[in-house]
Amino acid sequence: MSAFQANSQLILALSKGRIFEDTLPLLEAAGITVTENPETSRKLILSTNDPDVRVIIVRATDVPTYVQHGAADFGVAGKDVLLEHGGEGLYQPIDLNIAACRMSVAVRNGFDYETAVRQGARLRVATKFVETAREHFAKKGVHVDLIKLYGSMELAPLVGLSDAIVDVVSTGNTLRANDLKEVEAIMDISSRLIVNQAALKLKRARLQPIIEAFERASKK
Ligand code: ADP
Ligand code: PRP
Ligand code: MG
Repeated sequence: MSAFQANSQLILALSKGRIFEDTLPLLEAAGITVTENPETSRKLILSTNDPDVRVIIVRATDVPTYVQHGAADFGVAGKDVLLEHGGEGLYQPIDLNIAACRMSVAVRNGFDYETAVRQGARLRVATKFVETAREHFAKKGVHVDLIKLYGSMELAPLVGLSDAIVDVVSTGNTLRANDLKEVEAIMDISSRLIVNQAALKLKRARLQPIIEAFERASKK
């Protein structure tokens, strides 16, 4: 537990964009209003109407790291991000059913994925999600060379960096706009509440009502 945080103070780690936006109504259900907007403010520590609750803004992939080390007491992260992180030191009480999408394999229109797989071709796969991709292709018995990227995965097959990508898909608009097709859905993805295991014990009185409010609001 960080010495920075007194026992009654709570820090919630969120990423800007869809996770912040979709968490706001859940916070409201717990009586918490964030009083600053991360899209217009350059501040990384945001206050709320509750002097004991603050929100920190970090990259989506860094949310589990802050919570694991107790620099944040709790946070919201996608299942995709949690699988890559491994979940060490994290208690994952609830699926918030927000930021819903699926993890998929996609290739260029015109690339015969099924035949390549059937013939045992070695596939070059570009992705941000190397652990998930490794496990998926190992289960299928497909040999892959994984190429780690940090974004814009859809570009990789278009410029010959890879044969396939593993990325999250929601509407499919990004794939269509880039002449790609989804050839396999790996798993459904949504965002989860994650809680630091020590904080859950030491700050249970403060955390439990918020967890319960999130749970009720996310089921609606
Ligand atoms: P990043 O900057 O890491 O791309 P995002 O805010 O785009 O952060 O994504 C945060 C989480 O939202 C992801 O971990 C994933 O679970 C989910 N997500 C990503 N893209 C989409 C999408 N197009 N539609 C719905 N959910 C998404
Ligand atoms: C995500 C993801 C895909 C896209 C899929 O990108 O990396 O590119 O959404 O959604 P769709 O199927 O509805 O088109 P995002 O919007 O998060 O952009 P960024 O991560 O590159 O900033
Ligand atoms: Mg994104």
